[in-house]
Amino acid sequence: MKVFIAGGRGRVGSKVATMLNVRGVETVSGGLEDGIDLIEGSGLHEALSGATVIVNVVNTGRFDREGAVEFFERTTRTLTEAGMATGVRHHVLLSIVGVGEGDASDQGYYLGKVAQERAVKAAGIPYTIVRSTQFQSYIPVLADQHTSDGVVHASRALIQPVEIDELVQLLVDVAMSDPLGEIELAGPEQYHLDDLFRATLAASGDAREVVTDEVTGPIDGLVPRGEYRQGTTLYPVRGIPLAS
Ligand SMILES: NC(=O)c1ccc[n+]([C@@H]2O[C@H](COP(=O)([O-])OP(=O)(O)OC[C@H]3O[C@@H](n4cnc5c(N)ncnc54)[C@H](OP(=O)(O)O)[C@@H]3O)[C@@H](O)[C@H]2O)c1
Repeated sequence: MKVFIAGGRGRVGSKVATMLNVRGVETVSGGLEDGIDLIEGSGLHEALSGATVIVNVVNTGRFDREGAVEFFERTTRTLTEAGMATGVRHHVLLSIVGVGEGDASDQGYYLGKVAQERAVKAAGIPYTIVRSTQFQSYIPVLADQHTSDGVVHASRALIQPVEIDELVQLLVDVAMSDPLGEIELAGPEQYHLDDLFRATLAASGDAREVVTDEVTGPIDGLVPRGEYRQGTTLYPVRGIPLAS
C-alpha cells in the first residue's frame, strides 16, 4: 500500500507520514518543498504513481474569502483529476467541524474549506471527510488571532479542542480502511471560548486581558451537532469551567 500525503511536510502531514511508516505503509509527500505545486500540478502524476490513497492535509495562509476559496478549489481539482487518472481509490480529506453543508460560517477561510469539501465530493473518487475541532496546541495561536491592540476578544461560543495525535491516529486508521463518507472528531470537554483563552493565557503567564464579546454567529458553530468520535486526552490546562 502506498499513500500520497498532500502537504506531507506540514504539522499534521508529517505526523501522519511517521505513523503510517511505523505501520509499514509507504508514503510520498506532495508539497512545495517536494517540488510539487498542487495549484499547477507540476510533478504530481509521477509522485502519485502506485498510490491508492490520498491523505489531503494541505493548507494556506490566505484567510480572505477569495484567496482561501481559490486555493482549496484549485488544489483539490488538480489533485483529484490526477488521482482519477492514476488509479487512486480513496481520498481522505482533513476538514473542520462547522464547515459541513448547512453550517453557515461566513468567515473567508471556512468558506474555503466548504469549497474544498464540495470539490472532494464532486470529484468521483470515494472519500472520507474527517472534520476535526481545533487542535489543543492551536489554542494559543487562536488567541493571538483574536487579539487587537493587545486585548483578546472572544465570545461565549462553544469550543471542544482535540489533541492532535488523536486526530493523526484517526486519519491513519481511516487511510488504511475503506471510505466512510463523513465523520467528525472532537475532544473530551466543551468550554466557552473566552474562558478557554483566559485560562490558557494565565497558565503561561501571559497578562493579556480577555474581553467577552457578543456571540455573532451560532453559539455551537465550532462543535459537533451530531454523532462524533471523542478523543480522551484532556486539555493540558485544568480548572476551566465546563460548558456542558
Ligand atoms: N489548526 C487546527 O486547529 C485545525 C483543525 C481542524 C482542521 N485543520 C486543518 O488541518 C489541515 C492541515 O493543517 P496544518 O497545520 O498541518 O498545515 P501546515 O503545517 O501549514 O502545512 C500545510 C502543507 O500544505 C502544503 N502546501 C501549501 N501550499 C501548497 C501548494 N500550492 N502545493 C502543494 N503543497 C502546498 C505545505 O507544503 P510545504 O511545506 O512544502 O510548503 C505544507 O506541507 C488544514 O487543511 C486545516 O484546515 C486544522
